[in-house]
Amino acid sequence: MNLIAENAAEATTRETDHNGNHMRAVVQSRYGDSSVLSVGLVERPTIEPNEVLLEVHSAALDRGTEHLMTGQPWLIRLAGFGLTKPKNPVLGLDVAGTVVAVGSEVTRFEVGDHVFGFAKGSFAEFAAADERKLAHKPSSLGFEGAAAASVSGITALQAVTDVGRLESGQRVLVIGASGGVGSYAVQIASALGGIVDGVAGTRNLDLVRSLGAEDVFDHSTTDLAEIDQRYDLILDIGGRNPIRKLRRLLTEKGTLVIVGGENGNRVTGGISRQLRAVALSPFVSQRLTMFISREHHELIERLAVLLESGDVVPAIGGRFPLEQAPEAMRQLESGQASGKTVINVKGAARHKEGLNS
Ligand SMILES: NC(=O)c1ccc[n+]([C@@H]2O[C@H](COP(=O)([O-])OP(=O)(O)OC[C@H]3O[C@@H](n4cnc5c(N)ncnc54)[C@H](OP(=O)(O)O)[C@@H]3O)[C@@H](O)[C@H]2O)c1
Repeated sequence: MNLIAENAAEATTRETDHNGNHMRAVVQSRYGDSSVLSVGLVERPTIEPNEVLLEVHSAALDRGTEHLMTGQPWLIRLAGFGLTKPKNPVLGLDVAGTVVAVGSEVTRFEVGDHVFGFAKGSFAEFAAADERKLAHKPSSLGFEGAAAASVSGITALQAVTDVGRLESGQRVLVIGASGGVGSYAVQIASALGGIVDGVAGTRNLDLVRSLGAEDVFDHSTTDLAEIDQRYDLILDIGGRNPIRKLRRLLTEKGTLVIVGGENGNRVTGGISRQLRAVALSPFVSQRLTMFISREHHELIERLAVLLESGDVVPAIGGRFPLEQAPEAMRQLESGQASGKTVINVKGAARHKEGLNS
């Protein structure tokens, strides 16, 4: 993909002379912190036979997108995202938008459908997406809420259900309850009959209570070892606590699901903690697990049922227009974001080239 103009001012000027094949997007030509991001003009993506082209209404931030911005942990570069610089210069994954073109093998969508899910390069006016990674947007859900749902929502859904195997009436502790994944995990576990406690930072304790948690612990003032309660299920999403400390909070047959946690080492991101938990699990009475979230429409559709029922509501903590996406990423990297942060793209676009809203 060629970068036509690398900053917002130039992109705005050049916009008047482009021929309809270009779009505004959040771009980066190298790995780094949010200062590597700019709003530029790039070619619109082309689609493969199994893909649809979306006019993006809204996108959203998540920690995985931050990792793709920084190129850290290094493991992700080896996973094919670009060794020395990002292969795809356009950032973003969570998406909600309107289908404006379909590939020859696409069977589930038509032009005009409103959809949400995963699209690499969603911080842009247009994005290409594999049809297997999209679902129809529930009409009761706005584009902002839909954009904020997929990456974090289906991670939480899998953590609570497929991996955590929560049963109604069980006690659950969500560590990292105020973030993207945690804000969904608290709500999903509560909706499925769990009695949920949460761990979050001082400024987010009320948010976590409002999501349905009973007891809320402040990670800046409370050591997990001080908590008296024992849990049937712990979802470990933030803080990178040692496994032995987490096990002490579990019931004898309890389950630990390690979802993630920042500040691991620069090469592997600290995945060794997860691997040690899995290796230890067969030798202890508790079940110690980890997982890598799947990106599939079946999961998005399961989440959509919860979103439509109103049992789960995206906790949108911030909204930014496309031009301010670099500032949104800066807030995420500094730990100031709460819940999900949304990027509103439609409306930022000055040219619609005949596309309907
Ligand atoms: N396994 C997978 O497939 C998968 C999928 C998605 C995400 N992840 C990983 O899951 C992690 C969370 O992602 P996210 O998008 O939810 O991130 P996020 O929005 O930044 O949320 C991070 C959460 O961790 C909390 N936290 C920060 N420091 C803590 C501490 N010392 N002790 C306890 N909690 C602490 C934060 O609380 P405050 O902000 O209130 O301080 C916040 O609730 C990331 O590492 C991400 O890479 C894994």
